[in-house]
Amino acid sequence: MPLLHYENNNLYIENVSLKTIATEYDTPSYIYSYAALENNWHTFNHAFASIPHRICYAVKANSNIAILHLLATLNAGFDIVSVGELERVIKAGGNPNKIIFSGVGKKQTEIERAIQAGIYCFNIESEGELDRINDIAKQLNKTVQIAFRINPNINAQTHSHISTGTKDNKFGIDIDEVVPLAHKVTTLSSIKLIGIAAHIGSQITDMGPFLKTIDCLLNIYQQLSHLNIKLKHIDIGGGLGITYHNEKPPAITEYADALKEKISGYPIEIILEPGRAIVGNAGVLLTRVEYLKHTQHKNFAIVDAGMNDIIRPALYDAWQNILPVELHRGDKKHYEIAGPICESADVIGKNRELVLQVGDLLAVDSAGAYGFSMSSNYNSRCRAAEILVHGDEAHLIRKRETITDLFALERVLQSVTP
Ligand code: LLP
Repeated sequence: MPLLHYENNNLYIENVSLKTIATEYDTPSYIYSYAALENNWHTFNHAFASIPHRICYAVKANSNIAILHLLATLNAGFDIVSVGELERVIKAGGNPNKIIFSGVGKKQTEIERAIQAGIYCFNIESEGELDRINDIAKQLNKTVQIAFRINPNINAQTHSHISTGTKDNKFGIDIDEVVPLAHKVTTLSSIKLIGIAAHIGSQITDMGPFLKTIDCLLNIYQQLSHLNIKLKHIDIGGGLGITYHNEKPPAITEYADALKEKISGYPIEIILEPGRAIVGNAGVLLTRVEYLKHTQHKNFAIVDAGMNDIIRPALYDAWQNILPVELHRGDKKHYEIAGPICESADVIGKNRELVLQVGDLLAVDSAGAYGFSMSSNYNSRCRAAEILVHGDEAHLIRKRETITDLFALERVLQSVTP
């Protein structure tokens, strides 16, 4: 069953109408489909079933603990980038021994906590980080597994903000530094090098950059093998794109088949860190039209979700489909769908042809990844509710924030009052 479908002119997610959800939980709200999440996970996992593999879901894409719990029950591993994400995975029942810790700026306390929790592997991005982890591991009397995240200098052909694999980007270790650093690891008592990794970017819609990346990693793997440095895994990162508009990314199976063809001759496990491909098309953002402004120049529909709720259109010029929740007759007009925030960048969709009335509900499609997880309280707006639909039922998995939550951590200084 597709994620969204119309029944009697009303939009449904699984067996629940979005109108019913809006009545019960108000708007703006993020709504996810259990079936879509489960299906995406199984598709990914089955696609790699014929070779040794480990799928570590990139928590940053959507870090709600109900979603992490669902993935943990499906036996997922996790790719994290902060101690906050680590604690979320643990809280959700994820196995620390299946966690990979990525990220260019791991702090001392984060490393300590991750070692104590017993994570699987740190993907390290610099010599400084290697030394820091070695020191901490020594102090804690532990041996820590690491992989080198390599900067392969490959252009992912995606938006510049989410391209991470070229020399211009802060990420990863230069290819030329890999062999000297691998030699150095052999002299460090508390570190074990078990893999090499790369993550060249996100929303990648062509197989070419992935294939270049795996070729680069296999090349380094062979060089290290010849030096008698044996690795357990190659980690190709995340980055597989989804269709928002008219992009044609490789299907998960196509992606897997092409990677498997490259790696199958090697006695090595492949690690993948998908985020968007698991959750992206499994969620929508539900919002309500507050005002319609028809001008000589343009028509605006002002909705109750803003760039604080969904920042992708403003930040990356991203296009996301916007669907009416209830179909009704009337004249179609071109609208700019804009939020209530006091910035002109606060536009969710430009030039959308819709029949609209004040009070209508709209669903911003493919909002499951980097939607809620990038939301903020800008303009002192309470963050949206999150709801997980499973068959006939809608479960609240994050309450809408309240005004009390908004400034719960702040204090007025009585002493500086005049
Ligand atoms: N692994 C690492 C080390 C990453 O940095 C990322 C994403 C992933 C895996 C997962 O990538 P995915 O499979 O989701 O493409 N906020 C942007 C996307 C930023 C991605 C950051 N890193 C957006 O909304 O398009």
